[in-house]
Amino acid sequence: MTAPPMESVTRIHTVRERVAGWRLQHAKIALVPTMGNLHKGHLSLVAQARERARRVVVSIFVNPLQFGPNEDFERYPRTLEHDTEMLKDAGVDVLFHPTTFEIYPVGHERSTVVDVPDLSGILCGAFRPGHFAGVATVVNKLFNIVQPDVAVFGEKDYQQLTIIRRMVADLCLPLEIVGVPTTRDYDGLAMSSRNRYLTATERKRAPQLYEMLTAARRRIEAGERDFDAIQKDGMRALEVAGFSPDYVAVRQASDLQPPREASREIVILAAAYLGKARLIDNFRATLVARH
Ligand code: PAJ
Repeated sequence: MTAPPMESVTRIHTVRERVAGWRLQHAKIALVPTMGNLHKGHLSLVAQARERARRVVVSIFVNPLQFGPNEDFERYPRTLEHDTEMLKDAGVDVLFHPTTFEIYPVGHERSTVVDVPDLSGILCGAFRPGHFAGVATVVNKLFNIVQPDVAVFGEKDYQQLTIIRRMVADLCLPLEIVGVPTTRDYDGLAMSSRNRYLTATERKRAPQLYEMLTAARRRIEAGERDFDAIQKDGMRALEVAGFSPDYVAVRQASDLQPPREASREIVILAAAYLGKARLIDNFRATLVARH
C-alpha cells in the first residue's frame, strides 16, 4: 500500500482539523519542530518519529522570538522547496509551515512568553539573552497546536533539549519528549543549518570542535576530575584552531549544573564562533567510580 502524499499546511486551524481526524482513528501523533534548511540530522528525527507514531507532523518555522537583535534571523537559510522535497520521501503526513503572523498575530515582541529560568540563563543562554525563552515559547505553541503524543528533538542542541524536558515537567504537558543522537558529517562535524556560513577553509577546520570534545571525554573517562583544567585546555585548543569560543563546560547531564561528587552522567558542551558561524556541540560521558 502506498502512503498518502504529504500535505503542506500553513494555517493552525487546518492542522487542528487533520489532528482531530487522526484522533478519531486513535492514531498516535508525533511532532518534529524545525526551522527548515533540512539535513540528515533532521531526517533522523523524522525517522524516529515514524517509529514511535502512526502520524507525523514536521513544522518549519524560523522563529523571530529566539533570535537576538544582532543575530542571523534575516539571513537564516530559508529553503522551503528543497525541504518539501526531502520530507516527501520521509513518510511525513503534514508539513506545517506557518507565516510569522499566524504564530504571532500581535507581534512576537508582545507575545506571552514561557521561560525556564533555572536553565535559560546559563551556557548558551548567558551569551544569547532571551534565546531559550523564545525557543520554549514557540515549542509550547507548537505543542498546543498539534497536541502530539511524542515530540522529537536532537541531542545536538543539548541545552535546548534539557530546557524542553524541564518545561514539559514543570507545566505538566501530556506528551513524551524523545532525544535523538547527533548526526555527524564524515569528519565528525555535527550537521547544522549554520554550517553553510563556513568558508571552504573554515569548513576544513571546523571538525576541531569535535576533536576537542573527543579529547576532553577521553580525559574524563580516564579518571581525570580536574574539570577546570579540561575546560581551560578546551578553550585554548579552540583558540589555537582559529575559533572564538564562548565556553567549554563540563556539567551534569541531567540538569546542566556543575558536577558533584556523586555525579555519574556528564556532558561536555561547547559553543564557538568560526568566522560568521556560531557552532555548538556536546559529548556525553560516564564517570567511573574511583576506589
Ligand atoms: P533546528 O535548528 O532546525 O533544529 C531542529 C531539530 O533538529 C532540533 O531538535 C535539533 O536539535 C535537531 N538537530 C539539528 N541538527 C542535528 C543533528 N546534526 N543531529 C541530530 N539532530 C539535529 O532547534 C531548532 O531548530 C529550533 O530551536 C526549534 C526547536 C525548532 C524551535 O524553534
